[in-house]
Amino acid sequence: MLNRRFLLWLFLMSLFPSYVLGNQEISKDESKSIQDIVQIVERSIRAEAEKGFARRGAHAKAHGCVKAQFRVLPLPNELSLGMFSEVREYPAWIRFSNGADKVQDDSAGDGRGMAIKLMHVDRSPSGTQDFVMLNHPTFFVKNAADYVEFQKAIATDSPIKFFFPDPNPLHFRLHELGIVMAIRSKKVNNPLDIQYWSTTPYRFGVTAMKFSTRPCNRPTPALATDTSSANYLRQNMQEHLDRDDACFDFMIQLRKRATEMPVEDPTIEWSEKDSPFITVAKITIPAQRFDTPEQQKFCEDLAFSPWHAIPEHEPLGGINRVRKAVYEASSRIRQDLNRAFERESAGF
Ligand code: HEM
Repeated sequence: MLNRRFLLWLFLMSLFPSYVLGNQEISKDESKSIQDIVQIVERSIRAEAEKGFARRGAHAKAHGCVKAQFRVLPLPNELSLGMFSEVREYPAWIRFSNGADKVQDDSAGDGRGMAIKLMHVDRSPSGTQDFVMLNHPTFFVKNAADYVEFQKAIATDSPIKFFFPDPNPLHFRLHELGIVMAIRSKKVNNPLDIQYWSTTPYRFGVTAMKFSTRPCNRPTPALATDTSSANYLRQNMQEHLDRDDACFDFMIQLRKRATEMPVEDPTIEWSEKDSPFITVAKITIPAQRFDTPEQQKFCEDLAFSPWHAIPEHEPLGGINRVRKAVYEASSRIRQDLNRAFERESAGF
């Protein structure tokens, strides 16, 4: 049954390549921009690693990695595809994080990440299906070339230049600035209590999808009040999971319109009026103690990527194409450096 669906999908791909590719448009300078970004991320990881430990080039601070179950629900035919074609349960790891490339207090305005890794996924080259999300429906950069501009502005210690590159108002990036301000001003007490979005699109058979997780209707037993501590998000997550399970609905949103639901620009939100999110799986995070030194080390070693995916859910669009090379380089470099540090310290 599964193979028949997969063959049908391949057949349709060959018939309608441009639609199947979700109208991807690859500019001729993109691969150069991607190389530049990989170098920038590598330099930043190496510079931070001089403090004795190599962290991720983004989302450096983890609140914790927790064990979870991802249960695919019975679905109508049109949704029963790829990872959602079979009613079954996957064991999963979920890493919750802050967005910055440095470890900072949780009180600093920042995006929050939720990265899910489904295990034992035979048809994915990595053996896992990863769903990587942020706590906002849109990303603040349109494409690879803009991301290079953003990094150049940061390198001169003046990120604001990305939004106001010169005095010409036509070049201002006000839409992007609005997204950054919305992300940075969100008040989060507990990473288990908020909604997350993929922001970028992925294949869903012959069309495309975005995905999102929303907490199920259960109040958090431990209400975070002490936001003065540097790691209050971790503490509140642990307090919650000391007492109770947590749960999320995993939802997908299908691409129903070509122009209004672009594939190449994740700064544009796909309207939920045109295509609502539909729950396709339930995530349960059982009560557990995750805040231990061993689990933290394990969490640092994990590598998530949107490209750890089965072919039916291949990442789409320029920002995802950037992420292919960047996440691979970031995880390889930090894991190599940390192994080297371990070997060095073992000598004493
Ligand atoms: C050009 C765009 C982007 C660049 C250069 C970038 C870069 C990175 C890097 C270097 C890492 C660390 C990878 C590792 O060492 O394992 C990372 C992790 C992450 N990124 Fe991105 N990213 C981009 C876009 C996005 C977007 C659009 C999202 C929205 C969902 C996102 C969400 C995350 C999350 C949640 C993590 C943490 C994954 C984990 O827990 O390990 N990123 N990113």
